[in-house]
Amino acid sequence: MSTEYVAIKDIGAHANETVTLRGWLYNIRSSGKIAFLQLRDGSGMIQGVVVKAEVAEATWDTAKGLTQESSVLVTGSVRQDDRAPYCGYEHTVTDVQAVQIAEPNYPISHKEHGPDFLLENRHLWLRTPKQAALLRIRHEVMKAATTYLDDRDFLRIDAPIFTPSACEGTTTLFEVDYFDDKAFLSQSGQLYMEAAAMALGKVYCLGPAFRAEKSKTRRHLTEFWMIEPEIAFLTFEENLQLQEGMVTHIVEQVLKNRMADLKTLERDIAPLLNVKAPFPRVSYDEAIEKLQSLGHDIAWGSDFGAPDETVLTKLYDRPIFVHRFPAKIKAFYMAPDPERPEVALGADMLAPGGYGEIIGGGQRVDDADLLRQRIQDHNLPEEAFAWFMDLRKYGSVPHGGFGMGIERCVAWIAGIEHVRETSPFPRTIYRIYP
Ligand code: 4AD
Ligand code: MG
Repeated sequence: MSTEYVAIKDIGAHANETVTLRGWLYNIRSSGKIAFLQLRDGSGMIQGVVVKAEVAEATWDTAKGLTQESSVLVTGSVRQDDRAPYCGYEHTVTDVQAVQIAEPNYPISHKEHGPDFLLENRHLWLRTPKQAALLRIRHEVMKAATTYLDDRDFLRIDAPIFTPSACEGTTTLFEVDYFDDKAFLSQSGQLYMEAAAMALGKVYCLGPAFRAEKSKTRRHLTEFWMIEPEIAFLTFEENLQLQEGMVTHIVEQVLKNRMADLKTLERDIAPLLNVKAPFPRVSYDEAIEKLQSLGHDIAWGSDFGAPDETVLTKLYDRPIFVHRFPAKIKAFYMAPDPERPEVALGADMLAPGGYGEIIGGGQRVDDADLLRQRIQDHNLPEEAFAWFMDLRKYGSVPHGGFGMGIERCVAWIAGIEHVRETSPFPRTIYRIYP
């Protein structure tokens, strides 16, 4: 047996050669004379064919003894065949070695399973083609986002997870014991990125965020990942341009590099091809008027519900910005519009197709007195924010940024109903296992 291993994704470069593949058996079917091995190795899937009359008896016996998810080394010649399933190549097997014969009771069969069962077996569910495709797209989304920023001279600065205070409202904080004190799991790295932006200009963090809201919707996780750029000397319009540029780039990269995965997921890519900057800018006022004219029972001053967002985004063919929400329903740090202080100089980016808000961001309060007032109005502990106040005392400048939820962005691009499938090991109010 040769000792060079070939990845299934590279199989096309080895047509008519004998190669050894290593991986796991996704499925095995056999008759008395021929066995079909569906092999996956993480990079792809290929069908291997073992013909009893053409291999050693021991090889045939090994093949016959394999079970679903057994780990194997399979040697054979590579034959191009447009009708071959998965990759357009077939592996004519000459030798099979079992690394481990899987127990015969592998929980996930090729039948339909309910979501609870699959989530309970998330550690194994990851092996199925759709789930693997989602994780590849997730990787691509994070890579494209960071590359976009890195190419524009941003620096990645990580934010802490243990924090002394709230960023996004006190009702959704997870509290943890911290020696003789209390700490909170970070809801957002934003406040730390503001400090970093005053030191380095253009920065971002990418990490987990935690929200204790008792929300059961298809958009909510208790733990999710967020990329948060923050920029000193930024205008509101520049902020929106950065967001639409980054999201356009992410979609382009997924279309370019992960088409096979989008196919596996049966994603209709036509709507993704429309995702080009500029994105429509819709003021909160206009959005309310539109919703009211469509019969929604919503008044100026209320936040949108999921049905409102779905109807609103249906009116456009690409993501939209809804800007200038009432300041009252937004976070303490949002700057007021100087021309209309009752609205915040912030925007949410809403994805089409009912996926709702994928980005929240805007300009920050940069005036020390106003920020102190806001901290008091929101009943936040001033001591915990003393360091944040310092940023307004020592060289305050107009600045802003945004946070994009990775799972929501992946769910939208991949066309997956529920964000939980776009997290490798999702945490929801119901689930912390496995
Ligand atoms: O709108 P949010 O709460 O904004 C912030 O956290 C800001 N501090 C970001 C910033 O300006 N640096 O959250 C930002 C994004 C949302 O648009 C959404 O995509 C995602 O984070 N998100 C969630 N994703 C999954 N589950 C949840 N519970 C989420 N909450 C927010
Ligand atoms: Mg938001």
